[in-house]
Amino acid sequence: MVELIGERVRLRELLVSDVALIHPGASDPRVVRYMSWGPNDEAATRAFVERSIAAQSLDPRPQYALLIEALADGRFLGMTGFDPVPNEPGHATMGYWIEPDEWGNGYATEAAKLVVRHASSDAGITRLTAAASVDNPASHRVLEKGGLTRVGPGTFTHENGTVLEAVLFERRA
Ligand SMILES: CC(C)(COP(=O)(O)OP(=O)(O)OC[C@H]1O[C@@H](n2cnc3c(N)ncnc32)[C@H](O)[C@@H]1OP(=O)(O)O)[C@@H](O)C(=O)NCCC(=O)NCCS
Repeated sequence: MVELIGERVRLRELLVSDVALIHPGASDPRVVRYMSWGPNDEAATRAFVERSIAAQSLDPRPQYALLIEALADGRFLGMTGFDPVPNEPGHATMGYWIEPDEWGNGYATEAAKLVVRHASSDAGITRLTAAASVDNPASHRVLEKGGLTRVGPGTFTHENGTVLEAVLFERRA
């Protein structure tokens, strides 16, 4: 089981009971505005949590979903993780979101750094990529501070089929 400890945050694997923690954010338009999924109904959040838990015992792992909580008091801060890309050994995509009340406190940056270190040191990931909406400069900063490099313009596709303009980031081990 993955557990990553930073200065102020702890990243841990999901439990079934986490649906109640995750769903308010996963259904919040402020959070999902620049994501490739959502806003979720509760069934979608539950399916995500169940898929993430099933992935914990698969080899190779298809997904690493990690809950971010505050080290100081254990409160829920958000979600992060990385997904190995099928048929591209060593390549994974990463993502994250933070509860709106907790934005601007450096939590996403700290979580991203922990994910980058774990993916490359312990999970065999040699190429980590992310696509952030062109309209999401806070995420661009998080990725840069996390050690990824801006590689150029691109797109990503929302699960509803909408294609969004993006800035692409990459880190090679
Ligand atoms: C993007 C997001 C994760 C950032 O979380 P956070 O915990 O507030 O991020 P941090 O505090 O670690 O860092 C944010 C950085 O962005 C900067 N920033 C914030 N708003 C900005 C803006 N409008 N323009 C430019 N930079 C901005 C901050 O100044 C900070 O950089 P700095 O430390 O150099 O000053 C959060 O806003 C969020 O959850 N958004 C919705 C989900 C999302 O977009 N996820 C990413 C999808 S690719």
